[in-house]
Amino acid sequence: MKNRFYITTPIYYVNAEPHLGHAYSTVITDVQNRFHKLRGEETFFLTGTDEHGDKIVQAAEKQGTDPKTYADRISSLFRESWPLLDIEPDRFIRTTEPEHVATVQRILQDVYDRGDIVFREYEGLYCFGCERFYMERELEDGKCPDHGTVPVRLKEKNYFFLMSRYQDWLIDHIKKHPLFITPERYRNEVLSFLKDPLDDLCISRPVSRLTWGIPLPFDDKFVTYVWFDALINYLTGLGYPDGPNFSKFWPVTEHVIAKDILKPHGIYWPTMLKAIGLKPYKRLHVHGYWQIRDQKMSKSLGNIVRPRDLVESFGVDATRYCLMQEMVFGLDAGFSEKSFLLRINADLANDLGNLVSRTLAMVRKYVNGEVPAPQDPEGVEKELREAALRLVPVWEKTMESFAMHRAMQAVWEVINKANKVIDTSAPWVLAKDPAKAGQLRNVLYTLLESLRIISILVAPVMPSTAGKMQEAIGLDPQEDLNLDAARRWGILTPGTKTSRIPSLFPRLETGKTKDKKEVKKETVSENAGKQVSFEDFQQIDLRVAKITAAERVPKADRLMKLNVHCPEERTIVAGIAEHFSPEDLIGRQVVVVANLKPVKIRGVRSEGMLLVAKDDKGLHLTTVATPAESGAKVS
Ligand code: ME8
Repeated sequence: MKNRFYITTPIYYVNAEPHLGHAYSTVITDVQNRFHKLRGEETFFLTGTDEHGDKIVQAAEKQGTDPKTYADRISSLFRESWPLLDIEPDRFIRTTEPEHVATVQRILQDVYDRGDIVFREYEGLYCFGCERFYMERELEDGKCPDHGTVPVRLKEKNYFFLMSRYQDWLIDHIKKHPLFITPERYRNEVLSFLKDPLDDLCISRPVSRLTWGIPLPFDDKFVTYVWFDALINYLTGLGYPDGPNFSKFWPVTEHVIAKDILKPHGIYWPTMLKAIGLKPYKRLHVHGYWQIRDQKMSKSLGNIVRPRDLVESFGVDATRYCLMQEMVFGLDAGFSEKSFLLRINADLANDLGNLVSRTLAMVRKYVNGEVPAPQDPEGVEKELREAALRLVPVWEKTMESFAMHRAMQAVWEVINKANKVIDTSAPWVLAKDPAKAGQLRNVLYTLLESLRIISILVAPVMPSTAGKMQEAIGLDPQEDLNLDAARRWGILTPGTKTSRIPSLFPRLETGKTKDKKEVKKETVSENAGKQVSFEDFQQIDLRVAKITAAERVPKADRLMKLNVHCPEERTIVAGIAEHFSPEDLIGRQVVVVANLKPVKIRGVRSEGMLLVAKDDKGLHLTTVATPAESGAKVS
């Protein structure tokens, strides 16, 4: 029987759009899922959105809409973001799905019937941001450590899950299973928390205070408190209790989270599982925060970087690679566009990209573009072959322990070695001497075989690059991309045709991203407060324009193609399609930057820029208060 692997991301709140932090957890999960698939395992990957609770009600109110409409919209933003990063979940779950509601109610009833849920009065300090009660000792200067606000004293009757009953069992389980929570610092954090007596967990809210939740099956005056609802998604996703996926995958469950939700996953969840009568999950992997200028990137701080913008600037595989390399799993990392760019140029354009293009060029030039027949390798080629074969177990071990950056570093050591082999063996010199033809074939064969192994080991992080590398050396990624093939030497058959491929990672200009545009940060503009001279300002030609036609750009969710009249006809591609429909736009007078250098966006020439205002509610067109001539100058 095949080994199995089940991996989950947190389900994200739909109180704001996806950002780099969510993308990181979801990319890691995808990388791990692909890693296990590469090993030939049967895998299941679950992600989704968490849609109940006060936060969602508040966010919907802010947008002037109802929670369901709002949740539908933001949930789709999450769902649509993942394919952009080549993330391939098996199931995208929403906590508002009827299947999930039924599972939560079934579990609540079971746990209630067994006597692990009771009704009691509780008085405590409640943080509305966290949707939970705090103990005095958990506060910092009397304030919520996450929100910096003073919690409100609340007294109410609620249902409680008797979590404290399972405290000793949990301590024992964590002690007996050193890899239950990793990295170790988070395991220690949970154990240290468990030194004090656990409080029972409040799992309900009266409908007088919150209606947007799953009704308790045994008391319709209450709805379920978010965590009891949210955590159960990991069971619903597998079809608990009778679905075939449940029996297959539950025993091999691994969760990925950031440290903000360690307590619910490290304490509430295993005790809930115990009360339900299930085995705990196998492992919990906890990572740190992406920060911007030493602050956690978060929607409430308004300093987010959108995954979509990263992909547009750097490309999919390069973004995935940088995410894995720029953060040591478990520790915090600062996001900087510049360090992404430097890393892409150094590791991807220089090291890997050059190795691939140099090797293929030499194979074309010296051996007719075909995999050459090697003799027994010796000297530098032998060393490279051994290094490539030694790499596989190291890589596998580091990937298994979520040290993706170390796994990539190990691969890069071999890439660098291969580049050195080209320099020291100098195939262009060997090619001139017919007596050295055997050695030349050895060198080229060894380089091609090393590329083959490298393509397999970069595949979980850079799936499309791996596919391109395989095709270039005449292989079929469907068949040849598997870890067994990486353990063996000599799979390439002499005589196989290699093919020319475009540069894998063109160099990015320092200071600029690929599209010659900065990665957009949803932060207070770095230029806010910076002054420009009147002359500088005058260089920008702002004009009134009338939108005469509008249509969405196919396969680009954000982009709308506009024809404007200002007064000449021109085309502008604007990133507004998520906020406006073509009907909202046609006939409107807007303000455009008319002298922006034309650029091609998704194959469409864009000859200007539409000005829009942005706030929490979304985008607002800039326009003139009374009708103006098309082309009128704005100054
Ligand atoms: O907590 N750095 O949802 P959420 C790294 N619905 N990762 C980050 C991050 C950052 N700056 N910001 C967010 C919830 N994340 C609950 C979860 S699970 C049953 C319910 C990622 O939208 C990271 O994975 O606040 C973190 O744990 C998660 O988003 C929190 O997402």
